[in-house]
Formats: sequence, C-alpha cells, structure tokens
Amino acid sequence: MNENALSKLLTEMTIEEKVGQCVQLSGDYYEVSGEITGPKSNEDVSETQINNVGSVLGVFGSDVCRKIQKSHLENSRLSIPLLFMADIVHGCNTIFPVPIGLGSSFNPSLAYESSKVAAYEGRQQGIHVTFAPMLDLAVDARWGRNMETSSEDPKLNAVFAKEYVHGFQQDGLNNKNTMASCIKHFAAYGMVQAGREYNTVDLSRRFLMQSHLPSYQSGVDAGAKMAMTAFNTYDSRPCTGNKSLLDDLLRKQMGFDGVIISDWGAVKELINHQVAADNYDASVQSFNATCDIDMMSNCYNTELIDAVKNGGVDEALLDEAVMRILKLKAELGLFEDPYNQINDEVALLSSESKEVALQAAQESIVLLKNEQVLPLRDNRVALFGPMSNSGDLMGPWSWHGNENDVETNKHCFIRNDEKIKFVEYSPAFNISAFKDVDTVIFSGGENSFESGESNSKVDINLNQSQIDTIKKLKQIGKKIIFINYSGRPTVLTEVEPYCDAIIQAWFPGTMASQALYNIIFGKYNPSARLSMTFPRHGGQCPISYLEYQTGRPKEQGVDDYVSKYIDCENTPLYKFGHGLNYNNSEITNINYSSDYISEKENIKIDVDITNNSEFSGDEVLMVFINDVVSGLIRPMKELIHFDKFMVEDKHTYSFEITLDDLKYVDQDNNRLIEPGVVELFIGLDSNNLVQKNIEVR
Ligand code: GLC
Repeated sequence: MNENALSKLLTEMTIEEKVGQCVQLSGDYYEVSGEITGPKSNEDVSETQINNVGSVLGVFGSDVCRKIQKSHLENSRLSIPLLFMADIVHGCNTIFPVPIGLGSSFNPSLAYESSKVAAYEGRQQGIHVTFAPMLDLAVDARWGRNMETSSEDPKLNAVFAKEYVHGFQQDGLNNKNTMASCIKHFAAYGMVQAGREYNTVDLSRRFLMQSHLPSYQSGVDAGAKMAMTAFNTYDSRPCTGNKSLLDDLLRKQMGFDGVIISDWGAVKELINHQVAADNYDASVQSFNATCDIDMMSNCYNTELIDAVKNGGVDEALLDEAVMRILKLKAELGLFEDPYNQINDEVALLSSESKEVALQAAQESIVLLKNEQVLPLRDNRVALFGPMSNSGDLMGPWSWHGNENDVETNKHCFIRNDEKIKFVEYSPAFNISAFKDVDTVIFSGGENSFESGESNSKVDINLNQSQIDTIKKLKQIGKKIIFINYSGRPTVLTEVEPYCDAIIQAWFPGTMASQALYNIIFGKYNPSARLSMTFPRHGGQCPISYLEYQTGRPKEQGVDDYVSKYIDCENTPLYKFGHGLNYNNSEITNINYSSDYISEKENIKIDVDITNNSEFSGDEVLMVFINDVVSGLIRPMKELIHFDKFMVEDKHTYSFEITLDDLKYVDQDNNRLIEPGVVELFIGLDSNNLVQKNIEVR
C-alpha cells in the first residue's frame, strides 16, 4: 500500500481506531500464552478496544499468529493488520552467543550472519519486528543486562549495531528472510546507578554523546525501523516522557524517522517516577514526547482519546504517529497479505544455521589463562562441574531456543572422545573418582537465571562452593581447566591461581559444547578478546578500560595521596581486549606513512605480523589512542580501529587512520580535536601495545 493509500486510510479512521494503533498488548489478551516480560497487567481492555489494537508482543508460532491475525481482521472495521513483535535478541530457534559474548569475537560479520538466521526463523513463524539489537553500553558488571549488549566500548558497540540491524532487515522487509529491527533502550540504560536494575541514571549530556550515542546513531544510520525507550531517567526525566531526548535528539538531531515504542509499562511508570499525577498526565507527556506506542501500560488505551478531544494532544501529532505505524505495516507487505512469509515448513535449526552458530560460538569464547595446558593432549581427562551436564548454555533472552536442542558438555565431549571420564557433579565429591585422571575440565560459573533483566547482583564472585571444589582438586594434584559460563564479567580472583587454564564461555548458545570441545582439544584456535573488563573485586564496579587519568594518578604518585584503594589494586583482573590463543603471533614491524595527521593528510599504517607456532589462527588487531592534551578530559585509552584476520605464518595488515578517527565530541555532538600530540597504541591484544606518537596539525 503506497503513501497516498495510507493517507486515505488515515482519513477514514476514527480517533478510537487511531489511538488503537498506538496500543500494544501481550498474548494473554488474546487468550494465548506468550512471553510475559514485565509486571502482569490486570487492566481491563474492552473487546472494541482490542479490535482496534495495532500490535501484539510476545506471542509466537505460525498457527498462533495466523489465528490471532485472522480473528483480528474479522473484527477490524478497516482491516488494518496487527504487527507481531518479540524479543529475538540472539537467535530464534537456533541460539547464538549472548551479545556480550559475540562482541568478544571482534567479528561484526557474525552479528550480521546470526541476526540474518534469526530473522529467517522468526519471520516465518509470524514475527514482524524484533526488539533487538540492544545497544546500551555495558558499564557495571553488577547489572544483569550486560549479557544483552556487545561491549563496554562505544566503537565496538557501534560497529556491531550496524551489522545486527542489517542482518535483521537486509534490503527490504517484504520477504521471508527479514524482520524489522527495534533498537533499544534509548538511552543509557547501562548506566543504572550501583548496577541496580531499573535504577536512576544520571550522566552529563556530553558523556551521553561521547559514549552512549554512537551505537544508537549507528543503529539509526543502518535504518532501524523502531526504537524503544528506556525505563530509566535521562537529565532528570524518564526517557519515555522526555521530549528533549526522543523528539529533539533521537528524531531531529540523530535523524530517526521510525516508530518509537515504550518499554513494558514505562508510560504509566512516569507516575512512579513522580513526574506524572495520573494515567492521563503520563499519556500526554509520553505522547507529546513522540513515544508512538504504549507497550502494556494501557494508558494510551484509556486516556489518549480524551487527550486529543480536549487538546492535551494535537490530533496532527496522533496522525503522524499512526502514519509511522501504518507505513511500517505497509513496508512489511501486511496490507497486501497479512499472513505473508508465514511458512509452516520453515527450516529451523538447519545444518547451515548450526554451522553459523558453531562459528559464532567458537569466535566468542575467550581464553583468559593457559599455563601450557591447552590445547589438551592429555588423555586422562575428567569432565566435572555444575554445568557439565546442563543444557542451560544459551543464556537469558534465548526466545524459543530449547535446551533439548543444546548438546550438553557431557554428551558432546564423550561423543567426540569416549576416553573422557564424566564425574557427576557434587560439591561433596569423592576424590577417588579422580584417581585415574590427570586433568579435570571443570564446567561452572553462573546459570542463565543469574543475569538478564531484573537480575542485578551485588556479589559477582564465582560461587564459593565452586571455588572450594576447584581448590580441592588442585590440592590433589590435578590440572584444572575451568570453563566459566556467565552473562556478565564475574570475579575470578580467588579461583585464578588454582586454574591451569580459564575459558570465558559467556553463554555460547546452541552449539556451545562443540565449540568448547573444539577449542580445548585444538580443533579451533581461540581468537576472542574480552568485550568487557573483568574486575579484580566487585567493589571496583563500575570499572572499564575507558578510565580517565584523574588529577592524582596512582602511576605518577610518589606518596600516599593518589587515586587508589587501600585494599585492592586499581587494575582489573582481565582487561577489555585481553584474550589468548595457541599461535604466539607477534608484531615485528609497523610502518607509518607520516608522523603528522590533519584534515587533509591521513596516516597509512602497515603492520607486519609473524606467527611463531604451528597453529594458524585469527588475530584481532586493535588501535587505541591517548590524546595527551585535549579541551575536555578523555580516557587514557580509546579504541579507534579494530579488525580480525587470519595469520598463517607472516601477514601484513594495512589500514588508514583519519583525523576524524581521533576526534571527541562536545555536548552538542560536534566532533573536534585540538592540534598537538596523540599517542597511538597498536596491538594484537590490549596487554601488548606498540606506542607511536603522532602530531595533529
Ligand atoms: C522488557 C525489556 C525489553 C523487552 C520488552 C518486551 O521489559 O526491558 O528489552 O524488549 O520488555 O519484552
């Protein structure tokens, strides 16, 4: 349906029908069980109101979506089809690594490939829009939702954002391989104070622009069709009712022209935030802020008609919102065929999809420590630990991933090598079970209910009984290979000395076990680098590599009055960008085309790399800067470029940096840099960097 036809349709709609388009309800209002991802609502909604509703969230499956759509169209006066939306974040039926894990791959093409598979599986099962990618910056390891985003780094987040959106949407929405993407949560949800879920956020506008906006801007530029408001506040106003944030910044300054939807119940929550007196007030503020759809608070449903009739909301604004929603339905081809792309024979968990999932898992798993024990040659090996026989390897927000489709470590490892001995986990284990093995693969960490939404923690230490078990095994002379599953950085400081190898698995998804087997036994050379800092102690949170020098840097201090703790190092246990592999490649030479950089003169850089091992493998090259003197404080290291490539024996990697790569932003999002010295750091991981000073002219 073209724009003229949509405009004509709009003129035929009553106010009640227009408001209905701005309402989203969960499946239980359609007598089907669906995902309930927020406080249950017992608000009454009349049948007439349900017949006017514009979209449904959380239901899934060809039959269910077809049935609801059919019934809706029979009762919709103007036959305006429903949109079906859902949280297909890191896979639909084939589950990929949680995004914080995929970010550790430093391979954005995996974001494209994984979301392309997710769109293929989801669209044919009735879902038009996915509430993904989540683009919030990961800031505080105590927060449960770090698992859902790509990184603590703005650059990495922004590069992955573009690929996720392109993977979901590709080159058009009217086909079975695509879903509309809804970027979320605008904005800065990761900055919740104390890492506590749904807590207040307070940050400077400049810091929002510098660190949080790049990923959202990247999602907008990639053509995301929707954006979701964050539960939190920005600049002392809830995001959902914040016109300056949604209309002035997201729409007008950043160029977003799609549909804005609230998060679950967030319109009504303006009352809890104590900036709205009642549902009417909350509705007027949110709608005038240009939040088009009210997800599950029922405020628009009950208040918006009156608001339009008595001038609280201009009908012209309502028409604009409804037009955006109708356009999205038209782009999806729903007016021509409301059941388009639904396919009862969709190929789920195909071998091709699982191959993508295996590659993504392998590239996301980070080798944190290896005391010459991996790849494992020993054949007197036991597999043990609370996660060793678990299907809970997909992590939170795994939508319709099914544990029955996930091969456990036990099944996979023994299928690949029947000599591996499986020992049923119990903290009170009998050491005699290990008398005939030399090496124990301990599969542990968090389960997937310890992270994700509403799962913040104050104690992010590895579970004490797992630490004690590993210590006991070490004390009887076993080599320990520790597989750490987690949806956040966890504190491994106490267990680290007892482990000969530590593998950060995150939650690798459907193909977790095969990926881990391949890494441990050398069939895949690990290539990941941490996308988020691992604290030495939970009390260091929030901790990030993007830290500032301060006026009394510890490194420069000659006396006690420096920026430090009296009971802990400042440094993390593992840095952002840390990761080991089996090939000990090294940078043997770097050639710079110039020592100067300006608007007109870029610097071309050639990096010679030699691989001194029999293992070939992917390497990640990272480029950081430190702006020695700047108009505003800047972190001591900022990632400006990264890439991943195969290194057989020798390899020269060439790239170019521009002056814009070095710039920072002011509070109006203007990019700038002053003349002077900028330190350039180049390395294959963040612990081994080669420095070169260049001059900005
Ligand atoms: C949840 C989440 C959001 C999700 C939405 C719909 O509360 O905050 O990320 O997309 O509700 O499930």
